[in-house]
Amino acid sequence: MQKETKVLFVCLGNICRSPMAEAVLRHKAEKFGLTGILAVDSAGCADYHTGKPPHKGTCGILEKHGISYAGMYARKIKKADNDIFDCIVVMDTENYRDVESLFGGNTEKVFLMSKFYGKPVNVPDPWYTNDFNETFRLIDKGTDGLLDFLGLFPKNTVK
Ligand code: 4NP
Repeated sequence: MQKETKVLFVCLGNICRSPMAEAVLRHKAEKFGLTGILAVDSAGCADYHTGKPPHKGTCGILEKHGISYAGMYARKIKKADNDIFDCIVVMDTENYRDVESLFGGNTEKVFLMSKFYGKPVNVPDPWYTNDFNETFRLIDKGTDGLLDFLGLFPKNTVK
């Protein structure tokens, strides 16, 4: 049996970008029959919003695309996440530095989301930009690239 790959998305507050990425990738995993093959979670570098559901702008754009965010609540990243997850995808360079410091410099499993879509280097934070559409566009592209990177994007499927 194929081992389950566990992906953790990380942003600052865990209410805008990383829950959006979690919901989008989980949706694709279901669509591509990757249940039991790909597990997805998200967390924040800060605990400002612990226990809260995603931001209403994130909920709105996910609803617009028919993507569920049921049962998602913010949590703070912990050191043990480095042992639990296979791939940790951070939204910006500040998140990268925070995670690097939490993991004692061990960044073997840590990647910037932009590695999977190109530019810009940082996924714009709609908490500040209020542009949930642009953030969704990059996250949609990035999660396709991530599936490719993990060897899980189904062949003969148009992106
Ligand atoms: P996120 O956005 O990191 O994409 O969830 C933010 C959410 C909340 C705050 C900052 C960024 N905040 O300062 O409360």
